[in-house]
Amino acid sequence: MVLRFESSPGNSYHSFMEKIKAIILAAGKGTRMKSDLPKVLHLIQGRPMVSFAVGLARSLKIKDIIVVVGYKDQLVKKYLDKGVKLVKQSRLMGTADAVMSARTRIGKLDGEVLILYADHPLFTKETISNLVKSHLKNKSDCSFVTASVEEPKGYGRIRRDNYSRVQEIVEETDLIGHDHDIKEINLGAYCFKSKSLFSALSKIKINQKKKEYYLTDAIGILSQEKARVEALLIEDSAQALGINSQEDLAQANQIMHLRIIQDFVAKGVSIIDPLNTYIDSSAIIGKDTIIYPFTVIEADVKIGKSCRIGPFCHIRPKSILMDEAEVGNFTELNRSKIGENTIMKHFGYLGDAVVGKNVNIGAGTVTANYDGKDKHPTYIKDKAFIGSDTVLIAPVKVGKASVTAAGSVLTKNKNVPDKAVVAGVPAKILSRRRRNE
Ligand code: UD1
Ligand code: MG
Repeated sequence: MVLRFESSPGNSYHSFMEKIKAIILAAGKGTRMKSDLPKVLHLIQGRPMVSFAVGLARSLKIKDIIVVVGYKDQLVKKYLDKGVKLVKQSRLMGTADAVMSARTRIGKLDGEVLILYADHPLFTKETISNLVKSHLKNKSDCSFVTASVEEPKGYGRIRRDNYSRVQEIVEETDLIGHDHDIKEINLGAYCFKSKSLFSALSKIKINQKKKEYYLTDAIGILSQEKARVEALLIEDSAQALGINSQEDLAQANQIMHLRIIQDFVAKGVSIIDPLNTYIDSSAIIGKDTIIYPFTVIEADVKIGKSCRIGPFCHIRPKSILMDEAEVGNFTELNRSKIGENTIMKHFGYLGDAVVGKNVNIGAGTVTANYDGKDKHPTYIKDKAFIGSDTVLIAPVKVGKASVTAAGSVLTKNKNVPDKAVVAGVPAKILSRRRRNE
């Protein structure tokens, strides 16, 4: 669906987005997760669930983001960036009560409010931006996102009248008769006129079965009052998943995993086995790089063009591989930089290492970067040849075009000069002029 807006300044989407406030509900305990960790802190592809809703609001350039916390609020706070405002819901009395707790943070009721649930993390930016756009275009009092799914169990169902207009949302415990046949569900993303929202909230009665105030009741109240209520029906059922159990979480992880892989593939990265390759969404990878199966690439890793990675390779945070570098099976890199055309084909570990261009790192090379107290760097200069089973006890430097013989142990601060050959335990200089160099 393509939505168009007139570009008069007062009505433009961007100036509207600057005024809109977001409320993210993250106070629930998540009893159905059977876990001590607050539900919204469970990880999806390495990131706490709550960060997806916050990220969505941010990506839409919303400045005022209010997160409602409750269960283990101090712990949840640690995972939220300083830019968001926190509100504590003192008693967990349902989603309407959670929004009510944020009332004082909204100020004047002359704008719009976007409400997202922190446990519904798979929305795309496009969906939420379409929600806001259609809300603005239709001048609605409330717009919210729905999907038609084969298994609606557990979700609020959308009751429509004979003209297909939204009447109300019925929660699972309150379904009666034909409600059980309804396939259209509420996905918990709403855009309200602030005035209409808080007026409806003040009329919501406690649900007698659950002893909670349901935000979803606001839809029924507004449509009875003949206010403008619109549902934005989306087709991508992956976005319909709310996380209430470990099973939902596992499914969300799988969906998010494949989305991330697809993003890299679309940018020209070859991934041989998408199901068995894990890449953090913050990584940057150049085109024509091939990633072989069972590889894990963590946060803030940068990989250049035409590199070969894996199989069974673990690239840990903040590592950098320049163009045409090659790291093969059972190699682990941690906070290390590997220069252009440098090759480390077989098992080994480089931590806090800075490796130059055209270096060959032999099988079994290990940097001993941690002395039990501090981490230390290792420098390996261009064209060096590190023999198999070399151990480099950091801090240490290996000069340009120098060679370490197989089994050498380079000790702390015993730097190898350029073009030298070293061997032994501890390594000693055999020659100061490597042949053919
Ligand atoms: C809710 C919706 C349901 C919808 C589904 C989509 C209501 C009443 N029902 O059901 O229509 O289909 O989400 O995923 O809204 N929370 C608070 N404070 C509370 C209670 C909940 O902040 O007192 C937060 C939770 O942390 C969670 C979100 O609100 O992030 C939704 O709560 P949850 O209990 O999971 O609602 P659902 O049963 O999934
Ligand atoms: Mg939920």
